[in-house]
Amino acid sequence: RMIHILNGPNLNLLGKREPEIYGADTLEDVAQRCAVLGRELALETAFYQSNHEGEIVEMIHRARAAAAGIIINPAAYTHTSVAILDALNTFEGPVLEVHISNVHRRESFRHHSYVSLRAEGVIAGCGVQGYDLALRRMAVLLG
Ligand code: DQA
Repeated sequence: RMIHILNGPNLNLLGKREPEIYGADTLEDVAQRCAVLGRELALETAFYQSNHEGEIVEMIHRARAAAAGIIINPAAYTHTSVAILDALNTFEGPVLEVHISNVHRRESFRHHSYVSLRAEGVIAGCGVQGYDLALRRMAVLLG
């Protein structure tokens, strides 16, 4: 089955961006690890990133026809985007939310997530390993 893994703004700079918070791995490293683990779990993965809210909305629309599940790190849009929540509410399969950092240990504006209103599960503060954990959980949810 196909899983779409969606990443929001500034995550294209992963590895270079605030490495003390987000670690040294690049988004390309994360994408490759997901592909390898996906094969082990009999899941196909497609990995996307955009800095634009509307493009993320459209990625979710495309996932409606193409994906059995969505793993999403909406980055800063987590805390602001009703549009991304609404788009996820049009998707029928499981949604898992990932944050590399522990958002609950950071500024209070990061404590609220619109996306969590839709997500079956949330993984935060496990570094980029959170993507692996989400894939493993997805395999269980999809049975
Ligand atoms: C993030 C946490 C968000 O608060 C932040 O805006 C990000 C990344 C994370 O993965 O820890 O860009 O989603």
